[in-house]
Amino acid sequence: MTKPALAVPAPSLFSDSGTLAQNLVEAYLAVRGETERRAAPLSPEDQLIQSMPDASPTKWHRAHTTWFFEQFLLGEHCEGYQPFHPDYAFLFNSYYVSAGPRHARHQRGHLTRPSADEVTAYRRHVDAAVVKFFQTAGEERLTKLIPLVEVGLNHEQQHQELMLTDILHAFAQNPIPPAFDPEWRLPASHRSVDEWTTLNEGIHTVGHADDSFHFDNEKPAHRALVGPVRLARNLVTNAEWLAFMQDGGYGTATLWLMDGFATATNEGWQAPGHWRQVDGEWRIMTLGGLQPIDPAAPVCHVSYYEADAFARWAGRHLPTEMEWEVAARAGQLNDAFGIVWQWTRSSYSPYPGYRAIEGALGEYNGKFMVNQLVLRGSSLATPAGHSRITYRNFFYPHHRWQFTGLRLADYA
Ligand SMILES: [Fe+2]
Repeated sequence: MTKPALAVPAPSLFSDSGTLAQNLVEAYLAVRGETERRAAPLSPEDQLIQSMPDASPTKWHRAHTTWFFEQFLLGEHCEGYQPFHPDYAFLFNSYYVSAGPRHARHQRGHLTRPSADEVTAYRRHVDAAVVKFFQTAGEERLTKLIPLVEVGLNHEQQHQELMLTDILHAFAQNPIPPAFDPEWRLPASHRSVDEWTTLNEGIHTVGHADDSFHFDNEKPAHRALVGPVRLARNLVTNAEWLAFMQDGGYGTATLWLMDGFATATNEGWQAPGHWRQVDGEWRIMTLGGLQPIDPAAPVCHVSYYEADAFARWAGRHLPTEMEWEVAARAGQLNDAFGIVWQWTRSSYSPYPGYRAIEGALGEYNGKFMVNQLVLRGSSLATPAGHSRITYRNFFYPHHRWQFTGLRLADYA
């Protein structure tokens, strides 16, 4: 069954009933509450771990998303606001050069202090100040600040996904694999018997075309030549991946990009990330703990290098992000959203005419537009309401700790 694509544009975070101040408060508290809901099962020890340089501690995510509102909303727009602590801007700035010096990224797990409780107090301090500011700033000022608040909330939602992928990576390193949520189950996937959807040659508008919320990297909308190509309606499954493994896929250099094979060799990759063998059987570490491999489930935790090698082994290709977007708009892709992000073979580069916005927030997306690949869709960890057809996620080709999978393209 083909699931209908998400509405375009995505629904706003803000309700259209009530005053603007009420709507901002409601949306703000809902997003902030979701962060805390995701952190709630984790002990202070869990919240400190940084299991690799790319992953950040839960405690850091909770504080950094708070710093974002303190720095860019309260610090710049709320007269008389007093920062919660003079050192927190240094500790919890991520990569904003314009916002001043910052703690080294790979050392975030060294911060036993501030404690998780102190981070909770920081969040409460900023939440109270933001709510008070929304309630007193007046409609005219708030109207101008809507885009900034939207960025702050969407930024926090991005970190909500990272909180789950980062703690899962940490738990996957543990010989006694903990479950983030023992009740967790993989969302159901959908499969079509008719495996391929055909895109005839055509010129299509891609990118975000209206003023509803979007990140700057989704614009400008522009015209692109797409097709002829066939796109797989279905995601690649664990059963298909096991066939690749059993055929010696991980050891066959001719299937791989040179950098990819070097990475797979150096890292000792024999299977997707978070897979481990128990009594000769492959299992996967999930948010629900260590579970058997479900052959029918979409494969997850594969890097771009692995996805590319698999596509070559299968005699197919990875789609471009434009092909993905056109097929998704037509409602032709099963599980486009909500299970795994899907690698495309498109470089993460600016759309024609793109310029980063002025100021510190111009550092949000634009400065990362080299050496990474675009992923489309969303994953099981993406918060509700955070997905869009035009959304461009991006990671380096060796990264595989996110919920990442693939679908194939065919040009024959
Ligand atoms: Fe961030």
